[in-house]
This record gives sequence, C-alpha cells and structure tokens, in this order.
Amino acid sequence: MLISDRMPARFPLTATPTPVQRVRRLEAAIGGAELYVKRDDLIGFGFAGNKARKLELLVADALDQGADVLVTGGGPTSNHVQATAAAARVADLDCVLLCYGAPPAVEQPSLAFARSFGADVRFTGDFRRESVDEGLPVLIDDLRAAGRRPYGIPRGGATALGAVAYVLAVDELAAQLDLLGVAPATVVVATGSGGTQAGIVAGTVRSDRGWRVVGASVSRPVAECGRRVLELARSAAELCGSPPATTADVMVHDARGPGYGRPAAEGDEAARLAANREGLLLDPVYTAKAMAHALRIAAEDRRSPVLFWHTGGVPLLSNPVGER
Ligand SMILES: Cc1ncc(COP(=O)(O)O)c(C=O)c1O
Repeated sequence: MLISDRMPARFPLTATPTPVQRVRRLEAAIGGAELYVKRDDLIGFGFAGNKARKLELLVADALDQGADVLVTGGGPTSNHVQATAAAARVADLDCVLLCYGAPPAVEQPSLAFARSFGADVRFTGDFRRESVDEGLPVLIDDLRAAGRRPYGIPRGGATALGAVAYVLAVDELAAQLDLLGVAPATVVVATGSGGTQAGIVAGTVRSDRGWRVVGASVSRPVAECGRRVLELARSAAELCGSPPATTADVMVHDARGPGYGRPAAEGDEAARLAANREGLLLDPVYTAKAMAHALRIAAEDRRSPVLFWHTGGVPLLSNPVGER
C-alpha cells in the first residue's frame, strides 16, 4: 500500500491528539532545559499507549485483507499483546497470542487483560524471545489449515505500516508545537522493537523538522537496535512516498541498565521524580529508563528544549518486578 497522496486506512481506536504538556516542576528539579511531554500514555484505548496508534493501521489492513483473527506474540508482560487483544475485540476479530516461556506462576496484568478481552493465549515453552518469531509463522499456517483467515503481526507491531502510525503522529505533534511556539532540540522515546522510533525518525525527515530523535533502547544492543530502526524508518518512508532516513538520523542510546525488564536505578529515580513533581506515572521497563535519558539531556544543555514522548506502559506499573 502506497501512502504518498492519501491517508492510510485507519480503524479508529485512539483519542488523538494526545496532549503536549510542559513539566516545569521536573525542569526545576533538574535545573535543566524546557521539558515537554507528549502524552501517548493518555491515548484513550485499553491502556495501550504507543501500541494503539500502530494497531489503528494494522487492524484496518487486517480488515481490508478479510482476516478473521489477529495473531501476534511477545512476553507475558507485553503491552503489545494486551493492546492487540483489546483492538481485536472492537474490530469483531478473534485474537491468538503466542508468548515465550511457560504460563507464569503469578498471572501478569497484561495477560490477565488479554484473557479478559477474550484472547486465546498460548506459550512457546521456550524462554528465548525469538521463540515467538519462530513460532508465529507455524501458528499462522496451522490456523490457515484449520480454515481461519489469520493476520500476523510481529512482536511489538514492528512493521513498516505500524511505523507509519508514528510518521502521522509526528504531523500531529508538529502542529501542536507550532501552536505553542515551541521548537524542541531533541525528542526522546523508549525503544523496544523499534517501530515507534522508526516512525518518528521517518516523520521528522518527512516534515523537515530540525530536532534530533533519540531512542532509549531498553531491550536490544545499540547497534542492532539502530539497524532495525533505520530499516523500518526507510520502509515506512517508502510507504509514505517520502525521503528515506540516513544513518545520521538514527540515534540510539543504551538504556538497558541491568537488562530488559529489570528496573535500573537511574530509571527508578526518574520515575520517582516524575511522580513526585508532576504526578506523572512511568513504568520501570520502558518509560522510566527513557525519561532518565531525557532528564540527562535536558540537564546537559539548559538552552535546548527537550520533548519526552511518553509511550504508555501503565499495565506494567502493577508489575514492578518486570519481565522474567
Ligand atoms: C510502554 C512502551 N513504550 C515503548 C515501547 C517500545 O516501542 P517499540 O516496540 O515500537 O520500540 C513499548 C513496546 O512494547 C512499550 O510497551
């Protein structure tokens, strides 16, 4: 599908535009630059955060292709699996989820939500995250053999079309910033599977905005993450018929700390400050670690405004131990 001269089909889930807010108390606490937050945690659908924007396009594509079941996967604490289950419900589709590992001893909030949304939850029996990537094609073939019309979505919704959602979100943000008369020097976002940062990068290049986009990688090593983001940004730009990003457009910082899903001291401190000064909630797996980077960048140069793109993660708040 080429999206150069028309909007992609969108199955409406979100309540956008999400607000852009200045967080002056947080600025004062770090003695740093102007700091703004784009509140995709308030996306208005199923606590789905950034996943809701991607799913609007992916579900529309699934319906367009005549699918009757969404098939995706991730970890037992994945926001993406829970968000996909919720989106399937309102699109009158079934949902089959493949999680790595085995059923957790303690039910995780994301899976509990997904089950309450009617999803069929299965496990790979293998604790490697890649076991989901290996298992999804097999599951999709099995469903097809059983007469179903599956629509497969990779982990994190990281496809070119999913990333296009954030190309469009950049237009939304740019219009809001123009109204506010604000020009951030840096936009910081949490990066996992890479689709969100890729869309923001492609959207930034497309709209010729001068800010740099920094992804705080919470799960993958920086080099691998950078390669994924660039590839997805280029594929998204191709769909949009807009200029491709270059390696210089993709900046990734290592925000893993002790590892994916394990809280980091710096992230915990950022979450504590955000809650204590602004009543702003950050989850320990994604957004707290990314906010720690945003605060560091804002503290380094007081003259250069920073925008932190809040991507949600609310269900993870009830799971402070994180991924196992
Ligand atoms: C709260 C939150 N923030 C950020 C991300 C990362 O987004 P992406 O996978 O598009 O890099 C995720 C992905 O699961 C998430 O749940």
